Amino acid sequence: MESIQNPKSKNQNLKTAVIGVGSLGQHHARNYAEIARQGEIEFVGVCDSNAENARAVAEKNNCDYFADWRELIDKVSAVSIVTPTETHAPIACAFLEKGVHVLVEKPIARTLEETDLMIKAAEKSGATLMVGHLERFNPAMVALRPLVTKPLYFEIHRVSPFPNRSLDVDVVLDVMIHDLDAIQWLVGEAVKVTAIHAVGIPVISDKVDAANARIEFENGAVANITASRIGTEKVRKTRFYQTNGYVVLDYATKFASVTSLAPNAIHPLLGININRLEINDVEPLRAEIEAFLNCIIQDKTPPITARDGRRALDLALGVLAKIEDHAARIFPKN
Ligand SMILES: NC(=O)c1ccc[n+]([C@@H]2O[C@H](COP(=O)([O-])OP(=O)(O)OC[C@H]3O[C@@H](n4cnc5c(N)ncnc54)[C@H](O)[C@@H]3O)[C@@H](O)[C@H]2O)c1
Repeated sequence: MESIQNPKSKNQNLKTAVIGVGSLGQHHARNYAEIARQGEIEFVGVCDSNAENARAVAEKNNCDYFADWRELIDKVSAVSIVTPTETHAPIACAFLEKGVHVLVEKPIARTLEETDLMIKAAEKSGATLMVGHLERFNPAMVALRPLVTKPLYFEIHRVSPFPNRSLDVDVVLDVMIHDLDAIQWLVGEAVKVTAIHAVGIPVISDKVDAANARIEFENGAVANITASRIGTEKVRKTRFYQTNGYVVLDYATKFASVTSLAPNAIHPLLGININRLEINDVEPLRAEIEAFLNCIIQDKTPPITARDGRRALDLALGVLAKIEDHAARIFPKN
């Protein structure tokens, strides 16, 4: 009979690994290696189907390397999966089925069907499945989150120069999904989306490289999001209005402010109070990985669950469907 590890039996001195050590995965590896040096976990190694990549990252972090993730299944109790999105589900399911805890990069998977397989595998074995929606750990967002009341209108821009990576997915699944996750989190996970309008175009790749979406929620909140990976500069700005406040959040510069009427102001123009929030400048990825490890060690629900990842993916797929409708109207097939 196949052995399924009991995930809770080995939550102390976790043995960890990173699968996929490309542009983001190498930073997962660096963080695990640093945390391991503090003695609470063990960092077994890295895996990459590009063995040279794996060897180079292993050398830097003083760990073993593997070219096939299957070799790691019986050697570890928790992994980060930082491979291209199309590979998330098969790799994650194999580890989860064996009771290995998984932190999977965003988007959780390519499809809702794949996501449901991952959720089922985690539920069956009892292993933790967390999704890497990194912006939730940005220090500016961490400082802002307790001050969010009832956001009503968002204006969001996320623009990057062409990346030459993550081209297996479009700009919606690649980067807009960060903002789709954030708005749903800030408006409230239970608040339903009532309408999606969207437009998007492939410009340099054969997938959508620039997109704009307007998302409406049942409580009246509206979000206007622009995402582009063919910009000339890097922009990561969110502005939103909530009852009694105007919020600016810049993920790139880790800046957040809340503008409101000063208490006891007589004339509004004389009584504006701009509160620039103090941040605790930790590396967001470090905070994300520590949150993953802590929820395993303390046997708690992860801060970003697979259902959160599923909700963000569902919204992103809804935006893509609207983009397709729009494209079909502009370029009707004969
Ligand atoms: N949270 C964030 O802010 C953020 C940022 C960038 C990327 N990501 C996500 O991280 C993932 C990886 O993105 P990236 O930019 O690092 O991509 P990348 O192409 O730079 O790296 C992926 C690595 O995975 C390796 N790989 C591919 N298939 C594999 C397999 N079957 N087994 C082992 N290794 C395999 C590749 O050789 C490559 O080194 C994607 O899901 C992406 O969406 C998230």
